[in-house]
Amino acid sequence: MIKIGALVSGGGTNLQAILDAIDKGGTDAEVTAVVSSKEGAYALERARARGIENTVIRKKDFNAAGDYERALVKYFKERNIDLIVLAGFMVVLGSEFINEFENRIINIHPALIPSFCGKGYYGLRVHEAALNAGVKITGATVHFVTADCDAGPIILQKAVEVKDDDTPEILQKRVMEQAEWVIYPEAVKLFAQNRLKIVDGIVKRV
Ligand code: GRF
Repeated sequence: MIKIGALVSGGGTNLQAILDAIDKGGTDAEVTAVVSSKEGAYALERARARGIENTVIRKKDFNAAGDYERALVKYFKERNIDLIVLAGFMVVLGSEFINEFENRIINIHPALIPSFCGKGYYGLRVHEAALNAGVKITGATVHFVTADCDAGPIILQKAVEVKDDDTPEILQKRVMEQAEWVIYPEAVKLFAQNRLKIVDGIVKRV
């Protein structure tokens, strides 16, 4: 049974999808710690409702980004966390954190990487960019986190149709429902089963 630590900043619907999938069985994992970068994030309520240990660790309370990241590392290491799941976490992590959990941090991005990703592409901006580009298909990507924003090895992707009268909000909802909440729990399951191997920067399923 692996222990998952989640980093959140907002609503936590992806966290919820992972919790629900674990409840259904077949995923040998447990979410045992949830850390939010913001007070009042609804994701914390979701953790509390399940009796999952949770806390707020805010970047602005630290003098340097490295100190903040070391605090996060300490929190998760003290709890023997095996996998870090970024679930709508709005802070870009640096090497202090990433090196400590190499190949054990995963993220979901609401587009088909390498499209509409990288610095500045978050939240509704991703979907605005997709609509402005006129793509007919978008989707979501689960990937390992490396020091390059949204550029780590891709684990799973799922495509979603873009419709002519979509707004960023409508498209965001469709991408969540049809892709994010499906592939994030699936990626967690594959990781828990030790079925993900990274070979030359490419994820192979074993
Ligand atoms: C999702 O769109 C996810 O792809 C992105 O941030 C959003 C988080 O939503 N990384 P939630 O907090 O999981 O509801």
